[in-house]
Amino acid sequence: MAGIYENGQGADGANSGTPQLGRIFEHGYPGGPANGFGSEYPNPFLKQHIVYANRDVPNIRELAVYRQHGGYEVAQRVLTTMQPQAVVDEVKKSGLRGRGGAGFPTGVKWGFIPKDIFPKYLVCNADESEPGTFNNHEIIDLNPHQLIEGMIISGFAFGATAGYIYIRGEYAYGARVLEQAIAEAYAAKLLGKQLWGTTVDFDLYVHRGAGAYICGEETALLESLEGKIGQPRAKPPFPAVAGLYAKPTVINNVETLTNVPRIMQHGADWYRSFGTEKSPGTKAISISGHVKRPGNYEVPLGITVRQFIYDVAGGIRDGHELKFIVPGGASSPWLINKPEHLDVLLTWDDMAAAGSMLGSGAMIVLDETTCVVAASMKIDEFFKHESCGKCTPCREGTHFLTKVWERIEHGHGRMSDIPLLDDLGKQMSGGKCFCLLGPSAVAPVTSALKFFSDEIRQHIELGRCPLGYNHPPVAAHAVEGGVHTGATSVLAR
Ligand SMILES: Cc1cc2nc3c(=O)[nH]c(=O)nc-3n(C[C@H](O)[C@H](O)[C@H](O)COP(=O)(O)O)c2cc1C
Ligand code: SF4
Repeated sequence: MAGIYENGQGADGANSGTPQLGRIFEHGYPGGPANGFGSEYPNPFLKQHIVYANRDVPNIRELAVYRQHGGYEVAQRVLTTMQPQAVVDEVKKSGLRGRGGAGFPTGVKWGFIPKDIFPKYLVCNADESEPGTFNNHEIIDLNPHQLIEGMIISGFAFGATAGYIYIRGEYAYGARVLEQAIAEAYAAKLLGKQLWGTTVDFDLYVHRGAGAYICGEETALLESLEGKIGQPRAKPPFPAVAGLYAKPTVINNVETLTNVPRIMQHGADWYRSFGTEKSPGTKAISISGHVKRPGNYEVPLGITVRQFIYDVAGGIRDGHELKFIVPGGASSPWLINKPEHLDVLLTWDDMAAAGSMLGSGAMIVLDETTCVVAASMKIDEFFKHESCGKCTPCREGTHFLTKVWERIEHGHGRMSDIPLLDDLGKQMSGGKCFCLLGPSAVAPVTSALKFFSDEIRQHIELGRCPLGYNHPPVAAHAVEGGVHTGATSVLAR
């Protein structure tokens, strides 16, 4: 992601009125007084920001500024004039789908919470650890009160009296912004007991994780939040019935919750004027890699992949050609440079029909200079590192996959590695792993084999990168063996 922090004003630079946060980013956000990644560029498809509302207002993260722009008025109106069920109904009617990856309808999820078990919890998933994903970050760092307002309204809707924002520990800056925003909200009696003179209580806490991708998976997150090792739980029971401390719990993504104040402000019909029938609203998408204008852009759901890459992010860097796209975070199957893929609509259903996924809204675009073997190896190294080790197919499989890629990458590949990769991928798919992290590691394998098998073959035949890159040679013994028992025999067959 070189580029996004490169120049421009620091988040705690001259335009900030919150010096106590200190200067965290060395290089700051681009965009000058406009606060967000990519916000300085024209966005031809969006008539109005929803998630990144007020992104161009300096210091919107401060309570006073947020309130000058109508902040917390929606929460006050909702809590003092509406019944909780009416909020659930409005969110259901809006068609809001969870932005954390699966696109599950938010109002329906809230509706699963049993009415007669107390207390109930709302957990905001701010782990955002998928490579290429940084769209939640912008909300947290620059407009935390819209998220907090969304959590107050959402908690009210299904009866939660406490909320937790689980944020990856490395995001120290974001955690501090949130802590400060929450302190401001408490001081103004926007959090705590009897909000706006009602009987509604809502407390909010920030919890810093220790930095594990698996803790973005909702049940591993709950384990971690309870102070245990971050490994997924068996489902059922689902968190709606037995979640945090075995109590009914809703887990929603940052962007999902940030939509809620705008839906309750303008109504479900207004919200549905954005996007498509089955994927209403907008999506904040992070785009990185070889595009001219990497950054975060909010676009209506339903524009095409081509429109997003070329009209929003400025197209491929000068003189180069698109090679492939990792469209929804590292775990998503790739799209390539062909009209059928470029014309796919950015919706959950259209992306799935094209064999990929919208995922976390993180598009990594690679041009013709990218070595498919090196890229696949890097992605699988990530999954190997992040595998929690609970189940064998993922713990061993991510290790084996990485070893095979490394062997090919460093010039010691053999033709039998191609069916071996395919076989390993099959051993990790089709419900054999305990959670979705394992199959995620297979996405680069199936994509590379499907679209670039000739390039992989060439890499093996030549014993080097066919694109002419001088990847450092590594001795065969360094990539043959493995720390796990059996690795050598599997790789050597
Ligand atoms: C390995 C893995 C990592 C995940 N990471 C995140 C994450 O960082 N943020 C997130 O919101 N959802 C993540 N999810 C999805 C969550 O499990 C969950 O579906 C989501 O937080 C629900 O929120 P939503 O309904 O608002 O989409 C991850 C899932 C898996 C399997
Ligand atoms: S699939 Fe991987 S991350 Fe998920 S439980 Fe198994 S070992 Fe852990």
